Amino acid sequence: MSSSVTTSTPGKLMLMGEHAVVYDRGCLVTAVDQRLRVTVTKSNNPQQLTVNAPDVQVSGYQHDLSHDKDSTDLPKAVRFVVKSVQNFYQQNQLQTGLQIETTSEFASTFGFGSSSAVTVGTIAALANLFAVELSKKELFDLAYKTVLDVQGVGSGFDLAAAIWGGLLYFETGGKVIEPLEVGQLPLLIGYTGVKADTVTLVKQVATRKERYSELMDTIFDLSWEAVKQGKTALLNHDWQELGELMSIHQGLSYALGVSSIQLEKQIMAALDAGALGAKLSGAGGGDCMLALVTSNADSVKEAISNVGGQVLDVPLLAQGVRVES
Ligand code: PMV
Repeated sequence: MSSSVTTSTPGKLMLMGEHAVVYDRGCLVTAVDQRLRVTVTKSNNPQQLTVNAPDVQVSGYQHDLSHDKDSTDLPKAVRFVVKSVQNFYQQNQLQTGLQIETTSEFASTFGFGSSSAVTVGTIAALANLFAVELSKKELFDLAYKTVLDVQGVGSGFDLAAAIWGGLLYFETGGKVIEPLEVGQLPLLIGYTGVKADTVTLVKQVATRKERYSELMDTIFDLSWEAVKQGKTALLNHDWQELGELMSIHQGLSYALGVSSIQLEKQIMAALDAGALGAKLSGAGGGDCMLALVTSNADSVKEAISNVGGQVLDVPLLAQGVRVES
């Protein structure tokens, strides 16, 4: 058994179904080929976990694994790593000292899912290091428990993308996780430059739901319907229809109150320049937008840049978590 293992895990982008997927509906998600690496190394110092994460300015953070601290008492940048180790150790009755180092190809500000990627990457690396067999679903369940322990809310769609990779149809909590073979995905990604806080936006939608329960349920049902039709359009490579459905979904996100001026500007600019559809991706409030583009890609890119967006050149349909060494 080796004393050190490195995994790499892709980021993700929500194609359609955001927010509704928190309320027992389905969504479409793709893995993006910008990867987060986690290296776990056994150390001689029992019960001591040392974390280095230079991308988020964590250097030599020390944690005593014999104290099961509440995750809110931990510094934000290490919560997911520490909780992943605690949960994996608890499940497998382990005590070994560890060093963990994480590095990422993508900025945590893009909304590509650094928390979910680090959780999946850490648990997958530990499973390999301690020769514990975990199926994809078992890895998902432990990672989902970890994310809920740390942030209390979330559908788990990002964890599924990190584990399975490619394109998935996904339902809340992993009730359905269905890989879809599409071969290509002609999307442009525009970053708003604004970091969105997913938990705040999910809570904002929950507050609106308390007040307008039936209306919000209707919006979630419509979102799910757009997702189901979008899934068929994707499988048929019917880009015209997929684009229209994406734009319809954007209208639903607007109604949920999660769009922003910068997102709307980029979405309108992309449509005006010839995109077949455009929408925000993820919680909203900032992060990224997606434009479906089968021709005029250069004009659409220019239009997004002209209104202050940054076009991100990232391959989609990336491979899920893998052991690198
Ligand atoms: O902001 P992101 O990219 O992490 O997406 C959040 C998507 C939500 O549906 C709002 C939350 C969730 O966990 O599904």
